[in-house]
Amino acid sequence: MLPTPPGPRRDDTTTSKAHSLRTEARKPTTLIIKNKRGVIVHKKAPLPFIGQKRNFINHFISVVNQVITTDGDGWTIIDAFGGSGLLSHVSKRCKPGATVIYNDFDDYHVRLRHINDTNRLRQKLAVALANSPRQKQLSVTVRASVLDCIAGFDGYLDWAAIGSWLLFSGKYATSLPELRAKTLYNTIRRTDYALADGYLNGLTRVKRDFALLLSEHQHNPKALFILDPPYVCTTQGMYANKDYFGMVEFLRLMRLVRPPFIFFSSTRSELVDYLDFVVENNLEGSDRLAGYQRISIDAKVNKTAKYEDNLIYKF
Ligand SMILES: C[S@@+](CC[C@H](N)C(=O)[O-])C[C@H]1O[C@@H](n2cnc3c(N)ncnc32)[C@H](O)[C@@H]1O
Repeated sequence: MLPTPPGPRRDDTTTSKAHSLRTEARKPTTLIIKNKRGVIVHKKAPLPFIGQKRNFINHFISVVNQVITTDGDGWTIIDAFGGSGLLSHVSKRCKPGATVIYNDFDDYHVRLRHINDTNRLRQKLAVALANSPRQKQLSVTVRASVLDCIAGFDGYLDWAAIGSWLLFSGKYATSLPELRAKTLYNTIRRTDYALADGYLNGLTRVKRDFALLLSEHQHNPKALFILDPPYVCTTQGMYANKDYFGMVEFLRLMRLVRPPFIFFSSTRSELVDYLDFVVENNLEGSDRLAGYQRISIDAKVNKTAKYEDNLIYKF
């Protein structure tokens, strides 16, 4: 089992509806560690993934250890919106006895299989960008040679990685025409990605709509739901699901939420306000949601823009 990091302390001066803890966003200082059994644990996704929960990892481990106090025997942990698989990976390393279901909706495992190609392309682009100032827009000639390099590349194209090397934070492209339509910058990563053999070991990988997956485990009291849906009211085009995860999807999800659960959200999608509204008005689901606890992190978009990310849980 992973050691429990300093646990979330409850701040009882906050609302009676939710015990909450407020903290600053902290990137884990060590991103790949070995646990007591010598097993490698990643605290950051091996390849870029927008929306990965790296800033919450220590809090997440702490909450999982509170919900499941054994090595996980008899438990099923369902990462219904698996994304990069980071939460599944950490859950399995933390609770090796549990069945951990990773819902790989975006086929992240395919990207992991091609890390060598991705590194090869990064090296080619690093050469093309060698004389371009970092964080600055590319000149017309460098831009053309970068786009030619990508168009002529003979291997797998990992668009999320490519976007992270050439676009400004938060921007993305999923194809060459999309990339051509954007302003390009030199934000190339300086080093290769480490190979991530074993990252998905021990996980049960599926690709299902969240509602089907959760309904199957709805009545199992030893099934922990991990819920990190796309945030309503935010850009989602970088994810595989081209249908926007909107209010109706959100309400469909809320009908399935029951303890024990760990739910991620940001102020931008008003989950906390919604939960309080349901509880205060005794609406459908209030019994399943009342008394939830909350850990909030102040996340920075840039120097001026800030928002709050939340980990909400009940068990
Ligand atoms: C915020 S991301 C999850 C990030 C993940 N927790 C991590 O740490 O990498 C939300 C994920 O939900 C997926 N998704 C969108 N619609 C879905 C659906 N109907 N069922 C399951 N997953 C869906 C998206 O493709 C995306 O991978």
